[in-house]
Amino acid sequence: MKDEEMKPLIAFGIESTAHTFGIGIVDSDKRILANVRRAYSTEQEGMIPAKVADFHIKNAEEIIREALTKANLSMKDIGLISFSQGPGMGHCLRVGAIIARSLALKYKIPIIGVNHCIAHLEIGKALTEAKDPVLLYASGANTQIIAFESNRYRIFGESLDIGVGNFIDAFARYIKLGFPGGPKIEALAKQSDNYIMLPYVVKGMDVSFGGILTNLKQKYDSGMYKIEDLCYSMQETVFAMLIEVSERAMAHCRKNELLLGGGVACNKRLQEMAEKMATERGAKAYFLENQFNVDNGAMIAWLGILEYLRGKRQTISETGIRPYWRTDEEEY
Ligand code: ATP
Ligand code: FE2
Repeated sequence: MKDEEMKPLIAFGIESTAHTFGIGIVDSDKRILANVRRAYSTEQEGMIPAKVADFHIKNAEEIIREALTKANLSMKDIGLISFSQGPGMGHCLRVGAIIARSLALKYKIPIIGVNHCIAHLEIGKALTEAKDPVLLYASGANTQIIAFESNRYRIFGESLDIGVGNFIDAFARYIKLGFPGGPKIEALAKQSDNYIMLPYVVKGMDVSFGGILTNLKQKYDSGMYKIEDLCYSMQETVFAMLIEVSERAMAHCRKNELLLGGGVACNKRLQEMAEKMATERGAKAYFLENQFNVDNGAMIAWLGILEYLRGKRQTISETGIRPYWRTDEEEY
């Protein structure tokens, strides 16, 4: 019986806030047993919510099987089902929530809905030595500076319009690079060191990208600039903005750890700038493997474990999706 009690809790995490459908299987000893994901992509159009939801439905069974096979487990070994309850696109969230409820009911497993943004922060703490970091969460839809302060995960700065990844993708689409644009722009930017002046938009702790996008489009249309120079200048400008607000949040919260998360955190130039800023202020910057930067099921499984061990329990009727769930709504 003693042995039984010592067994780690194994959580099955479902991510479906946006274009990624992911399943992560993680145990309470922080072992990542599986982290399988598939992302919806298009050549031309953006994301149409109903189409993305169809993609998730189509791929779910295969991804679930693949994750269980990778972890060498069956559903009977799972002690907790955790899913992204929000924030995100309603159509997509609903797919993950329905799968989570079905599995929980069928196999009689406890279920917990978690906050996607907080999951980005907690997986970073689990996989690095960061104890109480400021998170620069830079993804497609989200750009937030998050830290835990006075019993809440609080947002210290954010984009006033679109997320930085969506901004990068919009520019990439405009210059016909396809989607997602981030990696392609990063490669082009590496071929230049010719900085062209762009608007720099920081308002207190917040940033905004709409004006920079318009300016970039005008510069591109004028035909007077090399694409490599525009990509380079774009990265230098918007990443400097992100690093500036991150630094201000670190000073404000008196925290000396910076963690990068979200798809844009895969960018090596952004990592380099974060490292430099942290070093200059005697702090430390932490980066994750790309599979944990982008949306993934492992972070959802892990936050589920944390919440479950803190005592959170949910009935099925409490697992309704929360598309507009704010990071700072709950007290911990
Ligand atoms: P969320 O729902 O959390 O907002 P998301 O659905 O946008 O996330 P992510 O996988 O976190 O998904 O991030 C995708 C974004 O990351 C895209 O906008 C993509 O262009 C960007 N990205 C990926 N790699 C890079 C890179 N190397 N440089 C810059 N941006 C990148
Ligand atoms: Fe995300």
